Amino acid sequence: MTDRPGSRARARLLCAAAVLVAAAALALAAARGTGSVVASSAQAAASTQTGSDTGRQVFLRDCAWCHGTAGGGTSRAPSLTDVGAEAADFYLRTGRMPLSSPDEEVRSGPPSYDDATISALVRYVGSLGAGPAVPTLAAGDIVNGRKLFGENCAACHSASGTGTIVTKGEPAPELWHTGKQQVAEAIRVGPGPMPPFGAKQLDQQEVDDIVAYVHQLGSPQDAGGAGLDQYGPIIEGLIALFVLLPCLVIVIRLLGKRAPRRSREEQS
Ligand code: HEC
Ligand code: HEC
Repeated sequence: MTDRPGSRARARLLCAAAVLVAAAALALAAARGTGSVVASSAQAAASTQTGSDTGRQVFLRDCAWCHGTAGGGTSRAPSLTDVGAEAADFYLRTGRMPLSSPDEEVRSGPPSYDDATISALVRYVGSLGAGPAVPTLAAGDIVNGRKLFGENCAACHSASGTGTIVTKGEPAPELWHTGKQQVAEAIRVGPGPMPPFGAKQLDQQEVDDIVAYVHQLGSPQDAGGAGLDQYGPIIEGLIALFVLLPCLVIVIRLLGKRAPRRSREEQS
């Protein structure tokens, strides 16, 4: 009984430590949250051009000299009349178009336009002919997606989607950062040396399954909370097990012990 003040002090220390750890975890989560909010508001601020005519105007200014004023194609670039909104959305959102010269290599990168301008251009290219619309995604089955990805895509993109080299020396890119919509579009469009997959090879449900699988490969979006810097589920689990759980146990034990002690003191 003589060690009671000592153990109380120790308990207080432990409690303070637990609170500190929890606060640090919260601060980390908050910092990540603000980071992405700042980034997305910067993107929103970059959005300037809107309006129904924008698509046509930007097309005439930036695309027509290669693809023709009505999108019918020239010696520099193929016709766009029947590629549809689907291909336009893919080529613009993965930064493949516009090229600055007809000999330039078609490469993915940051998009050249803000979101609103891309949407306007996509609508305009879609209105040129009878090509496919931008695909509508539904929830997919990751397990089946993994199987289909292994059968149809892994040979070029590797099983973990990190990309590899295909036969003609053209690199198959890493897929971790490709948007869901663009993965679905790529499957149908087949950019460059990649073969297009028609509805007979992969139906819409199978496309959704592959998209779901590819989407979780690099887990770039943390819709459900702090991602702990993408260290992955194992590290996250270890942190939960060895940091957060012990903190919780300490707090529970402290709460559980105090009550009977106090009542004994009151009785005596
Ligand atoms: C300097 C010339 C050039 C300019 C400018 C250009 N493109 Fe292209 N575009 C090409 C070439 C060349 C291809 C074919 C690339 C390939 O298939 O490897 C192409 C392909 C495309 C495709 C894919 C067509 C298909 O068959 O699937 C789309 C969609 C497209 N361009 C849209 C656009 C849009 C929209 C713009 C304007 C924002 C634009 N391009 C500007 C040269 C150009
Ligand atoms: C024969 C090899 C090959 C196969 C099979 C293949 N791809 Fe590709 N893929 C490529 C190449 C090469 C590119 C780059 C094309 C370019 O940039 O013009 C590419 C590009 C892509 C992109 C665009 C990535 C970006 O961010 O720009 C996506 C998404 C994609 N592939 C998904 C798939 C999926 C899903 C499958 C299976 C259904 C698949 N690919 C099958 C070779 C392949």
